[in-house]
Amino acid sequence: MQNVIDSLRAGREQAVTTLLELLSIPSVSTDPDAASDVKRCAHWVAEKLTATGMPDVRVIDTAGHPIVYAQDLSAGPDRPTVLFYGHYDVQPVDPLNLWTNPPFEPTVRDNKVFARGATDDKGQVFLHMVALEAMRRELGSLPINIKLLIEGEEEIGSPNLAPFVSEHADMLACDCVVVSDTSMFAPGQPSIVYGLRGLAYMQIDVTGPNRDLHSGSYGGAVHNPINALAQIIAKLKDEHGRILIPGFYDDVLDLTVEERSDLASLGHSDDRLKADVGVKDLFGEQGYTSIERLGARPTLDCNGILGGFTGEGAKTVLPSKAMAKVSMRLVPHQRTADIAQKFIDYVHAVAPAGVTVTVTDLHGADPVLVPRDTPAIHAAVKALSETYNAPCKFTREGGSIPVVLLFDTVLKAPTVLMGFGLNNENAHSPDEHFDLDNFHLGSEAAVRFYTYLASSVA
Ligand code: BES
Ligand code: ZN
Repeated sequence: MQNVIDSLRAGREQAVTTLLELLSIPSVSTDPDAASDVKRCAHWVAEKLTATGMPDVRVIDTAGHPIVYAQDLSAGPDRPTVLFYGHYDVQPVDPLNLWTNPPFEPTVRDNKVFARGATDDKGQVFLHMVALEAMRRELGSLPINIKLLIEGEEEIGSPNLAPFVSEHADMLACDCVVVSDTSMFAPGQPSIVYGLRGLAYMQIDVTGPNRDLHSGSYGGAVHNPINALAQIIAKLKDEHGRILIPGFYDDVLDLTVEERSDLASLGHSDDRLKADVGVKDLFGEQGYTSIERLGARPTLDCNGILGGFTGEGAKTVLPSKAMAKVSMRLVPHQRTADIAQKFIDYVHAVAPAGVTVTVTDLHGADPVLVPRDTPAIHAAVKALSETYNAPCKFTREGGSIPVVLLFDTVLKAPTVLMGFGLNNENAHSPDEHFDLDNFHLGSEAAVRFYTYLASSVA
């Protein structure tokens, strides 16, 4: 294995150069105008996989963005089969003016690469491609059977991948799944994530009068959609952080005493969190610590709000429309479809008279807990702790990866969430970046993971 690691180290510069190419493709999945770039990105990934020796590479069209699938099963039936999952699509870039460099002109500064998708998830996908290429180059073949599933719709809730997994369960059959789309606990502290939250993402549209009105002539006699929307939003969550939607907590799995003490011992610091995000006080559901609130408790947030006059100066107007985007992060055993329906019913129930309210379910993801005691987890722990020369922590993360639950329920395969990002790398926000040390060490950890897994019964 050492020759593979040496080869990775010798190839670091080339790996970064190629990563910059991938990061320059604006594969924003939610933007209809970017569809051809998303497709171009799928083909870039497929061509790279072919160029690095993957024998069977396909770009599979869907009703949305393409799926890249590749496999090399030449290790044979006596060796474990690993399904690698990742995504090549990225989040939108706005607000564009807050980027130091344009988001699709990747730049290296302070040993970090800055670009949309750097840490989420192109950099983390590419480090596995680099690892597999080095193994093939130095060893002549791979010690495990590998299937790669790299999609272009993760950031919009994987609407086409979910049915694809169910319909192609035989093709995707594997002993375990590996995903690098999460964060490390802290710099230098490798971690395996064993729980991800789910998501229900909703849009509320409120319509009042048939046109914008003079607020002097009509204000006081006609309900204002922005005020009505604010009333609705205020009824979603109380001042203690509890969500007020009836039945919202019905299926929430409580933390066990043991889990609470494990999470407490991770060494999370509220002061560090406050300093990181620039707030004087934290806010969250009473009775829970921050680390519990972030990974193991559900929550509700407004993501955006629109309405009325927001330009310079003052304009006395009673607007015709207002809109808000609201998302809820879910935990086992909540289900996104059930929570979305409860949200819709509640918003209609609390909507004031005088306005028309419509609620749309935009997308979602089910939460998941993965087993912590599997051969693949053991291989990952060994690989990560050796690579970082530090013990590997087990954490729960607040983000969502929609298809991970399906790997369990449909493929019956345990997933290893072995991420190399850092929480403060600005995923989904301006100046997203990825630490190049973690990019390179991630490749080394991936080589060790695949190697150790080869000699275990997955
Ligand atoms: N990489 C994230 C998931 C993630 C974020 C895991 C933070 C752990 C911590 C992923 O690409 C993502 O952003 N997912 C979306 C999914 C959603 C659009 C259905 C998310 O969590 O918002
Ligand atoms: Zn993301």
